[in-house]
Amino acid sequence: MADQEIVSTEPATGAVLWRRPVGNADAEVAAARAAWAGWAARPFAYRAETLRRFANVVRAKADAFTDLIARETGKPIWEARGEVESVIAKVEISIAAYADRTAQRRVDAPMGSRMAVRHKPHGVLAVLGPYNFPAHLPNGHIVPALLAGNAVVFKPSEKTPAAGAMLVDCYRAAGVPEGCVRLLVGGAAEGKALAAHPDIDGLLFTGSAHTGLALNRAFADHPEKILALEMGGNNPIVVWDTPDIHTAAILVAQSAFTSAGQRCTAARRLIVEGRLYDALIDQLKRLTSRIIVGEPHADPAPFMGPVIDNEAADQLTESFLALLMNGGRAIRHLERPIEARPFLYPAMIDVTAMQNRPDLELFGPILQVIRCDDFDEAIAIANDTRYGLSASLISQTPALYDRFWANIRAGVVNWNKPTNGASSGAPFGGIGWSGNHRPSAYYAADYCAYPVVSNEAEAARASIGIGLRDG
Ligand code: NAD
Ligand code: SIN
Repeated sequence: MADQEIVSTEPATGAVLWRRPVGNADAEVAAARAAWAGWAARPFAYRAETLRRFANVVRAKADAFTDLIARETGKPIWEARGEVESVIAKVEISIAAYADRTAQRRVDAPMGSRMAVRHKPHGVLAVLGPYNFPAHLPNGHIVPALLAGNAVVFKPSEKTPAAGAMLVDCYRAAGVPEGCVRLLVGGAAEGKALAAHPDIDGLLFTGSAHTGLALNRAFADHPEKILALEMGGNNPIVVWDTPDIHTAAILVAQSAFTSAGQRCTAARRLIVEGRLYDALIDQLKRLTSRIIVGEPHADPAPFMGPVIDNEAADQLTESFLALLMNGGRAIRHLERPIEARPFLYPAMIDVTAMQNRPDLELFGPILQVIRCDDFDEAIAIANDTRYGLSASLISQTPALYDRFWANIRAGVVNWNKPTNGASSGAPFGGIGWSGNHRPSAYYAADYCAYPVVSNEAEAARASIGIGLRDG
């Protein structure tokens, strides 16, 4: 492996952006192991101030960071800017979350003693990142992990290593010790080596269910290690009893096509009330035909860029053809205007008549449409997935939302809002194949430290009142 390189290319142009030799998991874990106790021993206020400096470092480099993320992922510059803003905002959110979720608590107990609840860091945590938010999502694990007093070994996606490397440079520039945040450059092999490393105390993962399930199996014999899995979704958006079809179409398009559909929370399935079908599809066709697909810096600004690489574009094309061959009816074909580049125009396909609809996360701008006449059946179709990340209802009727909320299975359930755009200030995670009940964002504090309960008294005092012979 040592002579291999990870090469990052810009999806929009194919130009080489960054290259570096693959790293070594043993070396990175050893460095983190050596450093973590010193970091854990620092007061929380010291770690919080260091991470506040990190936010300032990112602020100062915001333009360069935005440009790098846009080039490396292909996302529009406006969207990359939003990602950098989320990286900055994460620090204050995580400091508040640490205090809220894992603060020290004392409860007075009888006879001058007390009970204290405090939290301790796990030690060395591995973080594996995805490519769609190469800075914001790993940062969503790393900031809470460092705040809690852990050291981190971070392996960014092999598709977006440059953004990951810049993130690590920013922690270090802010004063996080070099040993406490290590960069492991590599692909799946290095990810596997890191996950299997005996000297990590846990793994915080954001990525596909395919990888997450493999990690879950690999950790089956390690109950002593924390494993947090943030995975994908096959998310439904239901449109029912709404008077404003134009707005409904905008919400559907935002849900399905923002980030070229490369969001874990993107709507993959539109379930629409039969009587609204024609009007909604008509609006969606008009709207999607106006969507600008272009390179990140293009003027006028594009709504969406390319997908991450040609392989992803090829797979999406194959998936769309498979839907067509299995009974789907194209509403809008998946067009790829430049053969050699992964730009895709938004696609929609009616799969109402299809038997055995595949329960797959098609991670790109493909929306499957299902027509339905009964609201309970709409919920049943929405729930017909092994995943359970996000779900939205677009409707003017509160009682329908009550039914939807009560019966839908997802970790994010929205009303007259898109399926995506989750807030960092709230817990974020899914059920089923979308996660392992360790939600991230605001609740990341929970998996970055474990609670310790102590019964304490200033002086030792004890007596046994029952069951002793006179002595
Ligand atoms: P991926 O699973 O292919 O890769 C994620 C990371 O795991 C990468 O760093 C990769 O190198 C590493 N990896 C791959 N195989 C591995 C293995 N066998 N062992 C250890 N590490 C391995 O995911 P991706 O394609 O980069 O990201 C897109 C996926 O992420 C989508 O499924 C999306 O829904 C999901 N996602 C989830 C969330 C969430 O918070 N729930 C957020 C964003 C993206
Ligand atoms: C993502 O993490 O992939 C998207 C989050 C969101 O937009 O809800």
